[in-house]
Amino acid sequence: MNVIAFVTQKGGSGKTTLCVNLAVAAEAAGARCLILDMDPQASAEAWYHDREAASPKLVKLGAGELEGAIAAARRQGFSHVFIDTPGRDEPSVAAAIRISDFCLVPCRPTPADMKATPATIATIKRLAKPAAFILSQTPPRGFRIKEAEIGLAVLGPVAPITVVSRSVFQDAQGAGLGVHEFEPGGKAAQEISELWAWLTKKMEKMTDGAQKNIA
Ligand SMILES: Nc1ncnc2c1ncn2[C@@H]1O[C@H](COP(=O)(O)OP(=O)(O)O)[C@@H](O)[C@H]1O
Ligand SMILES: [Mg+2]
Repeated sequence: MNVIAFVTQKGGSGKTTLCVNLAVAAEAAGARCLILDMDPQASAEAWYHDREAASPKLVKLGAGELEGAIAAARRQGFSHVFIDTPGRDEPSVAAAIRISDFCLVPCRPTPADMKATPATIATIKRLAKPAAFILSQTPPRGFRIKEAEIGLAVLGPVAPITVVSRSVFQDAQGAGLGVHEFEPGGKAAQEISELWAWLTKKMEKMTDGAQKNIA
């Protein structure tokens, strides 16, 4: 089972959006995915309430319940757990990073988001977790993306996919859907699929590496 935490201290950068959309894409690709919503603002849970589909499953919890929830997810045969976290420095964020196999750090290509990332990265490094930035809500193209990639690469790896700012993300969120369900075959769905494919490969490589280390 792979545990992926969506973390960054900056609110509004895309944690919840990426978390729920990747979970929908993962389920469609055959994974069994559980979302753990650790944000008191509970926007993932609100999305889940608006949803009619039975999967992906979502549970809202606090830091003290995390370990038990991960153990239960393992017993119940989930292949992936996605942890959505608050956009503030709270004990739940460190708990999510600690228990995860990989951290995705969404970042908009704006000075405010870029300035907010070092604090999150410091916690990730302290806990020695593999992680990558994912540029989110970007313009479709242009120098801002390249500049942000170069700036972030100083702090850590940057995912080779950028998620463009598209109103379909907001419309799907409001309808309790993923972009794959709201606009199948759309550009947003394609970006999320590419991100899922990249993440899957990354997790496979990490598992292979860990097995080689044991062998
Ligand atoms: N790629 C995107 N395109 C358009 N809107 C987006 C995108 N990603 C996020 N949003 C919107 O931006 C707002 C903040 O995103 P959210 O995922 O809730 O951030 P966080 O969980 O980090 O606070 C939400 O209204 C969401 O719908
Ligand atoms: Mg959120």
